[in-house]
Amino acid sequence: MDLLNYTPLGDKKNSDFFESYLPKVYERRAASGLDDLVREMAAVLIQVQHGDAIKYLAELAVMGPYRLIDSALSETHRIFLLQSQPEFPRLIVLEPLSASYEDELTRWNELYPLSRNKPNARYVGEIYKTSSVSGVRDALEPQNIRFVYPGDQENGFYCLDHLTFTFLSDFTYNRVGYVDVDLDDLAAIGLTERITLSPSDQAVINAAVELQASKGIDGLVLGLDHMATRILAGEREDAILEYLTMVPYYFWGAYNITEMNSSTNVTRNPNVPDDKMSPARVFTANNTPSFVNSFDNLPMPTEDFVRNFGRRMHHMAVAVIDGHVADEKNVDYVVRQLSEMGTEFLAHVVGECKDEPNLKQIFSKSSPYSLLITEYVERCHGYEGFFTRGNVAALTEAAGAAERYEHGHVFD
Ligand SMILES: [Fe+2]
Repeated sequence: MDLLNYTPLGDKKNSDFFESYLPKVYERRAASGLDDLVREMAAVLIQVQHGDAIKYLAELAVMGPYRLIDSALSETHRIFLLQSQPEFPRLIVLEPLSASYEDELTRWNELYPLSRNKPNARYVGEIYKTSSVSGVRDALEPQNIRFVYPGDQENGFYCLDHLTFTFLSDFTYNRVGYVDVDLDDLAAIGLTERITLSPSDQAVINAAVELQASKGIDGLVLGLDHMATRILAGEREDAILEYLTMVPYYFWGAYNITEMNSSTNVTRNPNVPDDKMSPARVFTANNTPSFVNSFDNLPMPTEDFVRNFGRRMHHMAVAVIDGHVADEKNVDYVVRQLSEMGTEFLAHVVGECKDEPNLKQIFSKSSPYSLLITEYVERCHGYEGFFTRGNVAALTEAAGAAERYEHGHVFD
């Protein structure tokens, strides 16, 4: 793909600053060797509160495609490795060994009113495959990207011999990681002290797996379709350019979601035949900051989310295979089954999938363990676009309403 001649889609206007630096970022990525060094996404990384890991693994097993394949102990954490299909990114869960554990994630969560009750729960970032972690550092450090070194902070997971992480981005509060070995087991990254789960913990996970299978959901949920970060209005372009500096993605396009006073900005990996091998990274930002917004009192669920929880990952989208169960679309079937088992959703499935290519989507309520919303998305009849403006507006509104509904007394 010729990035320098690609015209991004959408109607969100970017500044001259963005338009002039985007091609420079692409050119420098190629010149520095990063485009050759870094390939598709290897994993996503999520930390939960001490004591929440088994419950979160069970929730994941009921709701999506991820299954536990390995677990290990570090000085500070229990670490769980999960897999969907082998060619799709792994999911890694970190659980502090102590309820009093604290690192940068804790301190940043404590700054925000709605994340302070779960101060260790946070989506941390994505890990990318590379041929050399030191090569990545050599390429990016001259570009003022900071990496974690021993002694920088409390969690040794962020600086292993075969796994390196950036500092938390000031724009997204996410890290980017790079791994230069296959993540088929945790010993590959030097975590050799295995955990044997207690029979009761193993039973909890097994029951979740069996429950999902008994409802016929297991074959319908595939890998991750995309992940969406929410950031402040004024930092949209910086966040996108920084991410595109660090990973071999491209700016696919950006659309104004006028009704919600926000924009949806999509970056994708140009080198994979299937997005689920290296899911799209979406950035959502309000069009105006909250104090300016107050002149007109437009909706501002995105800015409210960031003010309530801090810049962070808002949702992970799970792809539902296109098709029917009896006369129900697969996503409707999955949502109905999960609802009957007690999973709560925000509003209803949006989008129509009659005879034309389109999208059907829905948001779950946020997980009490990861604080992440799960989106289910069915791309019907080979839908080529990435999203529809109407669906995004409806989903954004539903998520904003849920936040106010649950926590409205805090800020409104
Ligand atoms: Fe989404």
